[in-house]
Amino acid sequence: MKTKTYAPTPTNLRRLAAALQRGALVAIPTETVYGLAAHALDVRACESIFKAKGRPTQDPLIVHVLDLAHAELLAEFNDTARKLVRQFWPGPLTLVLPKQPCVPGIVTANRHTVAIRSPAHPLTRRLLRLAGVPLAAPSANLFGYISPTSAAHVLDGLGGKIPHILDGGSCRVGVESTILDLTNPAQPRILRPGSITATQLEKSLGLKIHEGARSRRKTTANKGLIAPGLLAQHYSPRTPLEIKPNWSTLPPNVGGIFLRKPPGRITPGTYWLSQRGALTEMARQLYEVLRAADHGNHNHLWIQALPADSGGLTAAINDRLRRAAAKR
Ligand code: TXA
Ligand code: MG
Repeated sequence: MKTKTYAPTPTNLRRLAAALQRGALVAIPTETVYGLAAHALDVRACESIFKAKGRPTQDPLIVHVLDLAHAELLAEFNDTARKLVRQFWPGPLTLVLPKQPCVPGIVTANRHTVAIRSPAHPLTRRLLRLAGVPLAAPSANLFGYISPTSAAHVLDGLGGKIPHILDGGSCRVGVESTILDLTNPAQPRILRPGSITATQLEKSLGLKIHEGARSRRKTTANKGLIAPGLLAQHYSPRTPLEIKPNWSTLPPNVGGIFLRKPPGRITPGTYWLSQRGALTEMARQLYEVLRAADHGNHNHLWIQALPADSGGLTAAINDRLRRAAAKR
């Protein structure tokens, strides 16, 4: 299959919206990472997402919608969920709620819940408006590999496997949305940390937010069932990655990724996530730098993690680092 990358012209957006309505896959830019989108109510289209990514069908998809009115057609909202939507949508907050009957089992891995969010990226919002259908979209990478934050990243992993990529430039946030389980609104639980933090959610709701869903690959009770969003190993470069507090010299064949640009002379094989140590910049650059280091011909990669009390995006960044470095 030939993969075509489209500039975001009005004609191309109309063409891609029509392709989505027909059941074709389109890689779309969002403010977090690129998504691999399909018509969420079209079972065949959703099946082709799993095929293109090599993703197990037990791992459910996030559905992207324009607004709360469209979301309520797909999920059963409660007042807590509505309150968060008013404050954080459109944006990087995914809510897990009881699903409406119209959502196909392929999207939810036959769960009774659906994960739903309204993306903020203006191009994808235009596409949602033109297509007039909800879009199921996981990150547009091969299953388990580093998520894509540019059209070039998508092409690198899925070139030849998908027909269309909408080029919306680099993603502003750079790490995936915060996933909040609100099936029990009295006990909201963060399933995946993102740029919207537990503190922000607690402040908005005046409720304690439970964090850190248990990380387990499989449960014996549900053999073969992947606990969604909780894979211990994920977002991984092909080069083995290890978290190190610090180092002064790099052994040969090791690439070293610093959180911020180290002072002094830069030796070959040295990478950094940010110039001055800003968390937003670290998150934005994380996957780009991991990919560059993975392509750098090293036998091993070292990376620094953030001190736990660095605030803001710390939980999201460290979560991705831990999973990227987890033993396979
Ligand atoms: O920022 C994002 O969320 C990006 C952009 C494209 O929107 N999407 C994304 O999708 O990261 P994906 O598929 O790579 O990660 C979605 C996670 C998966 O780990 C999945 O298991 C979890 O959401 N998930 C989906 N439906 C769920 C459900 N009903 N209950 C619990 N977890 C769910
Ligand atoms: Mg993903």
